[in-house]
Amino acid sequence: MAEGKTAKLQLGGKDFDLAVLSPTAGPDVIDIRKLYGEAGVFTYDPGFTSTASCDSTITYIDGDKGELWYRGYPIEQLAEHSHYLEVCYLLLYGELPNRDQLVDFETRVTRHTMVHEQMHYFFRGFRRDSHPMATMVGVVGAMSAFYHDSIDINDPVQREIASIRLIAKVPTIAAMAYKYSLGQPFVYPRNELDYASNFLHMCFSVPAEPYQVDPALARAMDRIFTLHADHEQNASTSTVRLAGSSGANPFACIAAGIACLWGPAHGGANQACLEMLRQIGTVDRIPEFLARAKDKNDPFRLMGFGHRVYKNFDPRAKVMKESADEVLDLLGIHNNPTLQVAKELERIALEDEYFVAKKLYPNVDFYSGIILEAIGFPTSMFTPIFALSRTVGWISQWKEMIADPQNKIGRPRQLYVGAPRRDYKPLDAR
Ligand code: SDX
Repeated sequence: MAEGKTAKLQLGGKDFDLAVLSPTAGPDVIDIRKLYGEAGVFTYDPGFTSTASCDSTITYIDGDKGELWYRGYPIEQLAEHSHYLEVCYLLLYGELPNRDQLVDFETRVTRHTMVHEQMHYFFRGFRRDSHPMATMVGVVGAMSAFYHDSIDINDPVQREIASIRLIAKVPTIAAMAYKYSLGQPFVYPRNELDYASNFLHMCFSVPAEPYQVDPALARAMDRIFTLHADHEQNASTSTVRLAGSSGANPFACIAAGIACLWGPAHGGANQACLEMLRQIGTVDRIPEFLARAKDKNDPFRLMGFGHRVYKNFDPRAKVMKESADEVLDLLGIHNNPTLQVAKELERIALEDEYFVAKKLYPNVDFYSGIILEAIGFPTSMFTPIFALSRTVGWISQWKEMIADPQNKIGRPRQLYVGAPRRDYKPLDAR
C-alpha cells in the first residue's frame, strides 16, 4: 500500500493527522488504528458500510463498474476459460497453476474427498426433514473432532492440510445431507470423476442403477461453483475471519461461515428468490409484488435484488443468466414459467424509478436457483451449494489472516446508549 498522504481531523480544538493508505484498486483508506489512543474517540459505522476490516490480496470488487476480480483476473474470463479447482488453486496460492501444479493439486483434493466413516453417524441424529444447512453446520464443525492432525493453526503444514480437506470434504458432506433428507443411502465419492461431476454423482446416483453425469450439466455446476468462490469481506467471510482471529480451528471457523451464509439476506437469498418467483407465479402478478417491495411498511423485499457493494449490475448475475438460458435449452425446458417471471421481473424492475434510484440490480442469487432447480436440486440445497462453493474463499481469507503478522483478535467497540451508572435497588424498593 502506498503511504504518504494524510487526512487531518480537527476535534476539541486539536488537529490529528491520520495516514491515508492507497490500494492497488478502489478507494483510499484512512488509517484510524491510533485514533482512540490519540484522540480518545471511536468511529461509528454499523454494518461496516464505510469500514475496511483488513487488507487483502485475494478478491476485488468495484461496485460502481460491476467488476469482480479473483487475484486480479476478471470473473467473466475465469468463468469462461477456467474451472473450479483451478480457481481454488488461484485463490489459495495467488497465481494460476502450471500443468504440473494443477495435476498435483487436483490429485490432492481428489484423495481427500471421503469423510471418516464414523461421521455417517452424525446424520442419524438429525430429523430427515432437517434443513441441509443445519446438518452442514453441525457436521462441518464436527470435522474438528476427527482431523486432529490439521487443527494447529500455527503450523503452516497443518493449515494446508485443513484447507485441502475442507475443499475436498464439504461437497461430500453436502451431498450426504441431501441423500439423508431423501432417505437414500450415501454415495461415496468417485476419484475418476472431476469435482463437479463427482458432486452430481454423489447427489443423484443410486446403488440400484448406473448413473451417467451429463457433462454439460457438470460444466454448468462447475461454473456456479466458480461464480460463488469468493467475494471480499462479505458477512460470512467476515464471520470466518472474526472466528479465526480468536485462534479457533479452521473447521470451527468454516462452520461459523456456513451458519452466517444461511441468512436470507446473504446466501439464503437463492432459496428465498426461487420461492419468491414461485409465489409470484405469473408475469401479471409482478406489479403487485413490486409494489410490496417498495412499500416501507411491508417487510417484503425482492430477493435476489440489491447488494451492499454492487450499485451497478453484479457481473456474476450476467454470467448466471447466460448459463440459465444454456442449461434450460439443453434440458429442453422451454417457456419455464419461473424463468419467464424472472426475466420479466428483471426487465420491469430495471426500468422502475424506485429500483433505479436505489441502484438495485439482480445479484448472484437471482438466476442461480433457476439453474439449480433445472439440474434437479430442491430449493433447500441451493444454499448448501453456495456454502460448498464459498469454502475455498473462506479458507483462503482465513489463511491470509492467520499468516498476517499484524493478525490480532477482532474486537469492535460500541456507542453505549444504555442506562447511566446506577446503584442496585432492593426488591421492596422497586
Ligand atoms: C449475497 O456482501 C456480499 O458480497 C454478499 C454476496 C456474496 O457473494 O457473498 O454477494 C452474496 O448475499 C448477495 C445478496 C443476496 N441477498 C438478497 O438478494 C436479499 C435481498 N436484498 C436485500 O436484502 C439487500 O439488497 C441487501 C441485504 C443485499 C443489501 O442491503 P444494503 O446494502 O444494506 O441495502 P439496504 O438494506 O440499506 O437497502 C438500501 C435501500 C433501502 O431503502 P431505504 O432504507 O434507503 O429507503 O434499498 C432498499 C432498502 O429498503 N432495498 C430493497 C432491496 N434491497 C435494498 N428494496 C426492495 N427489495 C430489495 N431487494
